[in-house]
Amino acid sequence: MTTPADTALLPAHFRTELRTDVTRGLTASPKRLPPRWLYDPLGSELFEQITQLPEYPYTRAERSILAQCSPAVAALTGARTVIELGSGSSEKTRILLDALGEHHTQLTYAPVDVSASALAQAVAALRADYPHLTTVPLVADFTTGLALPPLPGPRLLAFLGGTFGNLLPGERAVFLRSLRSRLDPGDRLLIGVGLVKDPDRIRAAYDDAAGVTAAFNLNVLTMLNRELQAEFDLSAFEHVALWDAANDWIEMRLRSRREQTVVLHGLGLHVFFAPGEDLRTEISAKFRPRRLAEEMSQAGLQVSHWFTDPDQLYGLALVARDDEPAPPAR
Ligand code: AVJ
Repeated sequence: MTTPADTALLPAHFRTELRTDVTRGLTASPKRLPPRWLYDPLGSELFEQITQLPEYPYTRAERSILAQCSPAVAALTGARTVIELGSGSSEKTRILLDALGEHHTQLTYAPVDVSASALAQAVAALRADYPHLTTVPLVADFTTGLALPPLPGPRLLAFLGGTFGNLLPGERAVFLRSLRSRLDPGDRLLIGVGLVKDPDRIRAAYDDAAGVTAAFNLNVLTMLNRELQAEFDLSAFEHVALWDAANDWIEMRLRSRREQTVVLHGLGLHVFFAPGEDLRTEISAKFRPRRLAEEMSQAGLQVSHWFTDPDQLYGLALVARDDEPAPPAR
């Protein structure tokens, strides 16, 4: 017989946070779960597949912008350390590391991610290809006031992939303020965001024809079944992607196909779903350059350089403390 201890994948400190998040989120109205729980090992793998879908342009756009702007970012920052928040596979980071390597032979790379499995794979792959790189992997949720490792400066904080958009506006403000308080003069933030475009295109990116995003979304229920001995029937929920024009964000939801009560034995919780009732599993905000600059300045930060792709699907902002000398006018 399998006991929960045999099948559970989560380390103990995450388990406590999961229990809190799920209890709160599934008893709230409307129901919600924080998006970080989408990234168990299968979820991380499905996300990697999403990045290769024809409908999902953001990863490709970001890669092409990075290829263009990395030499400039390296020259402008002179960074000796890259701290990457939500690093995932670290695949695109190589472009940055290559450019920085032209300036310094001794580089340090500190990837921070909630997925220990994604981190372990990423670091193993990097060590093979970058023998001189010092790697300092950190399993952590970077939104919760993580102490930045005191690694050689200037440090470049990379927050790529549009993960910033998965935070609610209030969470983004708290996050930026806390980052600001931990940035030393000379440190820089490189942050990537999806841009507001045609809503149909955005919706398609979150509801692809092959159903990979649906599988990614539904997998959070498999995770709850495993980690909290829940009894979610995946066939009783439907993947939904909704564009919220008032908030400039897309939501992923799981919609109950019928009336049902789901038991989560691990929490001693029974959750009632009305027919058509939604559980929100993610928001993914898209940005307008002006609004992003405003959010930064409200947090004591300034956008010094802005890089984008020809289709304006995605933007990378290079950000400094607002008490640093203003960048030269361009
Ligand atoms: C890359 C994590 C930001 O919001 O676009 C992809 C996650 N969700 N498809 C995003 C995601 C659905 C993604 N992030």
